[in-house]
Amino acid sequence: MNSPLLIHPKRIAIDGPAASGKGTLARRLALHFSLPHLDTGLLYRAVGAQCLERGALEDEAASVEIARALDISHLNPEALRSAGIGEAASVVAARPGVRTALLELQRHFAAQPGGAVLDGRDIGTVICPDAPAKLFVTATPEVRAQRRFSELEGRGEITSLETVLADIRKRDARDSGRSDAPLAMAEDAALLDTSNLGIEAAFAAALSLVEQALRA
Ligand code: DC
Repeated sequence: MNSPLLIHPKRIAIDGPAASGKGTLARRLALHFSLPHLDTGLLYRAVGAQCLERGALEDEAASVEIARALDISHLNPEALRSAGIGEAASVVAARPGVRTALLELQRHFAAQPGGAVLDGRDIGTVICPDAPAKLFVTATPEVRAQRRFSELEGRGEITSLETVLADIRKRDARDSGRSDAPLAMAEDAALLDTSNLGIEAAFAAALSLVEQALRA
C-alpha cells in the first residue's frame, strides 16, 4: 500500500547582516512559493521606534514592556526604515528580555501549516532551528553601505557614504557581538554572498539553494 502523501511545510529561514539583500530575497522567495513572510527586523525596529518616541531608549524595562505589548498587525514598514530607527532597533535587540518577548510571536508565525519565510539575524539558529531551508545572505561592508546609502538617498534622508559605512560596521559589531542570539550562520545554512550579484542573479542563486534544501 502506498504511504499517504506527506506535505512538508516550506519553512525558509534567511539571516544576514544589515543591507545584505536578505529582505528583498525573502520577499521574492515568499512571492515565488506563495508563502507568508515576516521581516523580523521590523519587530525590533517597532520596539526601538516606540522607545525613541517615549525618550526611553536607555530604559531596558520600558523596552521589554513595549516588546511584550507589540501588535504585529499594526506595523508600518515605511515609517520604520530610517537609519535612526535601525540603530535604536539594534540597541533594544541586544536585550534578552526584548528577545524573549518577541520569540513566541515569531515561532507562531513560522509554524503556519504550509510554511513561511522569515528573515532576520537568528532565524536559522534560534527561531526556526529545524527549518528545512536556511540561507545566510551576506556581502562586503562596502557593498552593503553603498546599497543602504542609495536606499536612504532615495527616501530623501541626507547622509554620506562614510557615515553609512561607519553605521554598518557599528551595527555588525553590536549584532554579532551580543551574548543573546547573536548574528551567526547556522551550521546547516547555505551561504550566499551577494557582493557581486545584481538582484536577479541573487534571486536565481537563492531560489536554487532553497529548492535544493527543500528537496533534501
Ligand atoms: O534587518 P534590520 O536592519 O531591519 O534589523 C534591525 C535590527 O534589529 C538589527 O540591527 C538587529 C535586530 N534584529 C535582530 O536582532 N534579530 C532579528 N531576527 C532581526 C533584527
